Amino acid sequence: MIPTLDDLSVDGTTIGVRVDVNSPLADDGSLADDARILAHVDTLSELLSRGGRVAILAHQGRPGGSSFSGLSPHADRLDELLDFPVSYCDGNFSKEARDAIGALENGEAVLLENTRFYSEEYMEFDPEVAGQTALVDRLVPVLDAYVNDAFAAAHRSQPSLVGFPTRLPAYAGRVMEREIDVLGDIESAPTPRVYAVGGAKVNDSIDVAESVLERGLADTVLTTGVVGNVFLIAKGVELGKASSEFILDEGYWDEVDRAGRLLDAYGDKIILPRDVAVERNGERAEIPIADLPAAPDEPALDIGSRTVDLYGDIMANAGTVILNGPAGVFEMEQFAVGTKGLYNAATKAKNSIVGGGDTAAALRRLGIEGFTHVSTGGGAALKMLTGESLPAIEVLRT
Ligand code: 3PG
Repeated sequence: MIPTLDDLSVDGTTIGVRVDVNSPLADDGSLADDARILAHVDTLSELLSRGGRVAILAHQGRPGGSSFSGLSPHADRLDELLDFPVSYCDGNFSKEARDAIGALENGEAVLLENTRFYSEEYMEFDPEVAGQTALVDRLVPVLDAYVNDAFAAAHRSQPSLVGFPTRLPAYAGRVMEREIDVLGDIESAPTPRVYAVGGAKVNDSIDVAESVLERGLADTVLTTGVVGNVFLIAKGVELGKASSEFILDEGYWDEVDRAGRLLDAYGDKIILPRDVAVERNGERAEIPIADLPAAPDEPALDIGSRTVDLYGDIMANAGTVILNGPAGVFEMEQFAVGTKGLYNAATKAKNSIVGGGDTAAALRRLGIEGFTHVSTGGGAALKMLTGESLPAIEVLRT
């Protein structure tokens, strides 16, 4: 069992809350998107309105990466979004940070500095060892309980994610609870289950396809995007020079063999695109599969309209649709047609679930709403969909 906020007495206690507000940043360091911050408003508001004193822990970017930075803009945004004051402390377990936590009144929060400014936080540990790291060890004396709401980072076994539950009573926040309810129980989702796999991270998407086919979770797998192109090549379709070279250059040629093995084993369940949309003189041109290959300089950047119609019909009869990754280069308007068509069709299904970082970004950009569940997780959601256990969730189990 995983304890939730329903099991926690909050009033007058000090609670460490791990969130995942890792966000895209603009060139000037400001937040380019606040979706991940918005996702945690429910958990934080609930704890504050129930009289909690909240110390928020979070990371931003990866050491050495372009979005590795401090959390001051995140604190400002939380302060705007919540009806409770949120201050910012530029330390994460220093005396200053512990004093800031100690000075909190009921209904006040402080966001501590990027946990990854502390080098051990970017290492993976067993929970017991993580519980002895400086970050956990110094914060435990000023906290009464720990809440993990950072589903999107739950595939990491870093100190702020797995260490505290070995030392403090630990609970899942509302985001974590909902993600576990939906993604952790795919086996019970209504059938037939249709998985639409796409996106540019071909290996991740083929992992999902392989796992759900092997485990008998998928009745049908629809292939889109570069993933669809890889399956088409595996089936012996000549896409044309530009698309084949892209797959080769991205290092995905091995995935063609894997796609071929999946087609041999589960060919009746895997559906391939009927047509593709290529770029011709900057415009969209649709080509039926039978008329391929495309000209050497015409890359396939989207699925075509016949494919969108076919996939829409299949999804209309599904008990559950699970989408992972966009169907094409949705950032270019002329190649957003497949993603828009597919996602809009998916929202009409009885039960529709979207996972994967790129997918959520695509939805926001295209303004598509109406899914049963949009996961906050990229890598974490994919791992969960492939049936792997996530360390930060396992350590919450009692
Ligand atoms: C994510 O963006 O998927 C999470 O915040 C985890 O980030 P990471 O992949 O850098 O650990």
